[in-house]
Amino acid sequence: MEQTFAIIKPDAVSSGHTGAILQRIEEAGFRVAAMRMVRMTKAEAEGFYAVHRARPFFDSLTTFMSSGPAVVLALEAADAIARWRTLMGATDPGQAGEGTLRRRFGSSIERNATHGSDAPETAAFELGYFFRGLERVGEPVPAP
Ligand code: CMP
Repeated sequence: MEQTFAIIKPDAVSSGHTGAILQRIEEAGFRVAAMRMVRMTKAEAEGFYAVHRARPFFDSLTTFMSSGPAVVLALEAADAIARWRTLMGATDPGQAGEGTLRRRFGSSIERNATHGSDAPETAAFELGYFFRGLERVGEPVPAP
């Protein structure tokens, strides 16, 4: 089993799509191992997206990500990182395939509804940025 880090971004939360996206996550077979609603400060968003600091969209992206509440998640499944990226679709909703979350719920490359880690190293950093180890609950122990 692998865990990945996901965000339901402020555009999707404010337009009332949190529940629909969570339903798609569960229907796709992910286990929600941790979940919290957060309102990032600009500095927290800058820390999270530090890898993009030199990109021209950095200021706009971090302003958007700190503009309202978002939902942060730890998602668990076999091959979770790749499978979550497939369910989200391409970064630009206009390029995302039919049936993907960004195609359905995104409105621009910035306001693209969801985020997901792109590799095991980024998943480890991003999960640790928002969750303490104890918050990522394990599988329930089966009754004897
Ligand atoms: P995300 O998966 O959260 O990772 C970085 C984000 O930067 C990306 O989704 C987009 O929302 C945002 N972004 C804005 N402009 C661009 C761009 N030109 N190329 C890539 N990402 C962009």
